[in-house]
Amino acid sequence: MILLTGGAGYIGSHCVKRLMSKGYEVAVLDNLSRGFRDAVVTPYFYEGDIGDRAILEKIFTEHKIEAVMHFSAFAAVGESVEHPDMYYKNNVAQTLTLITACRDFGVNNFIFSSTCATYGDVKKVPISEDTPIAPLNPYGWSKRMVELILDDFSKAYGMHYCIFRYFNAAGADPEGQLRERHDPETHLIPLVLQVAQGKRQSIKVFGTDYPTPDGTCIRDYIHVDDLSEAHILGLEYLKREKKNGIFNLGSENGFSVREVIDVCRKVTGKEIPEVMVERRPGDAPKLVADSTKAKTILGWQPKESELEYIVETAWKSMK
Ligand SMILES: NC(=O)c1ccc[n+]([C@@H]2O[C@H](COP(=O)([O-])OP(=O)(O)OC[C@H]3O[C@@H](n4cnc5c(N)ncnc54)[C@H](O)[C@@H]3O)[C@@H](O)[C@H]2O)c1
Repeated sequence: MILLTGGAGYIGSHCVKRLMSKGYEVAVLDNLSRGFRDAVVTPYFYEGDIGDRAILEKIFTEHKIEAVMHFSAFAAVGESVEHPDMYYKNNVAQTLTLITACRDFGVNNFIFSSTCATYGDVKKVPISEDTPIAPLNPYGWSKRMVELILDDFSKAYGMHYCIFRYFNAAGADPEGQLRERHDPETHLIPLVLQVAQGKRQSIKVFGTDYPTPDGTCIRDYIHVDDLSEAHILGLEYLKREKKNGIFNLGSENGFSVREVIDVCRKVTGKEIPEVMVERRPGDAPKLVADSTKAKTILGWQPKESELEYIVETAWKSMK
């Protein structure tokens, strides 16, 4: 049995479905603070907090957990700047309780959802794992702190970790059963598609004077199902190699905000008005992954991250 935290959320719920389709048994622990009960597709659901030692003991006693996949967190950059207390408590302190329980119950395989936000404003693109770590906000630091905790626990107690630094997770279950539902939504593709749905009047483009070909920021979009597949490969790696790994997960393709909006227009057939506004503080011009390490060491091959397919699956899931 795998314990997956945050399995009522966007990426976690997709990973649960993928794991189950490959024959894995999965238990989900989620406090539903940002997730949805109807996104939990396993019968083994525990509603509770990762910082609650009692519920962790119950789960670890009721099931033989071979690995923890830890997705639960708060994940909005702007909110983390306004409320760092919430982020360090939920993402770091509560996670420490979870990792400590893993140690106490002999659960030695730990897979952690980290982020490219740990790199900050990079000097060199594409971004490989040896890029200096310099988060620009409490969210990025909260993820980095957990990475350091995992490394210290590994050295002291012999646990092993796989850290995945995701780029921009996007797309949805092609069967339309699961979808992206952040509230408030901060991610570009669902925001643009909400305009196509008529739920918003226009999409704001923050900054059109960046040093990129069309002046708007460039990001690397990776399909949630490709992320889920990496988790399965990460689990196999931990069981086989019994050593740690840190891997960037991105498609290695960069798309500008304008290119994303154009693809959304093409897929939906809607006009999608855009409004140009000032740059937001802290947005790097270009973030694109170098995922060579995940490809060579894990054998990961993103197959579902063509931008048009990402938008098609997201659009289908919203309808
Ligand atoms: N979405 C992205 O593009 C992206 C990029 C990089 C990293 N990540 C990371 O991936 C993970 C999943 O992101 P997501 O977009 O699916 O977020 P999400 O908000 O959709 O899901 C997070 C889930 O965790 C649950 N949760 C939060 N705190 C909890 C706690 N203390 N105890 C139990 N459950 C708790 C929420 O209820 C929610 O269901 C996060 O760790 C995030 O930092 C996401």
